[in-house]
Amino acid sequence: MKATVSRKAHFNAAHRLFNKNWSFEKNDAVFGKCNNPNYHGHNYELIVSVTGEINEETGFVIDVAILKELIEVEIEAAFDHKNLNLEVPEFESLNPTAENIAVVIYNKLKPKLDAALELEITLYETPRNFVRYSGD
Ligand code: NI
Repeated sequence: MKATVSRKAHFNAAHRLFNKNWSFEKNDAVFGKCNNPNYHGHNYELIVSVTGEINEETGFVIDVAILKELIEVEIEAAFDHKNLNLEVPEFESLNPTAENIAVVIYNKLKPKLDAALELEITLYETPRNFVRYSGD
């Protein structure tokens, strides 16, 4: 029997969306206010979902205490109250869109989980805008 276990988390971070190969005008046309050179912030809501077989002895897919700790160490400590462009090495040359942040989160967590577990990242950049990534 398979089940999905999810854990919610949260971080605040600043970013600027732009493509360094484009003019300011083109960046403005594509990214609008998100191209503000002085950055702006979001209250990101994160849902980390782990799918796998329910262990017969524990009744768990994954111990949520382990999942909680993993998210705190790998994601919250790295991203919370940070400027993603300037302080998070993964975004040095990667535009910190919600899509790319979800991919980076996936890539940080996946190697820390049992290889048999499937991982899906849901990242809310605003209450209405969110992206999902599960490794394709
Ligand atoms: Ni933004």
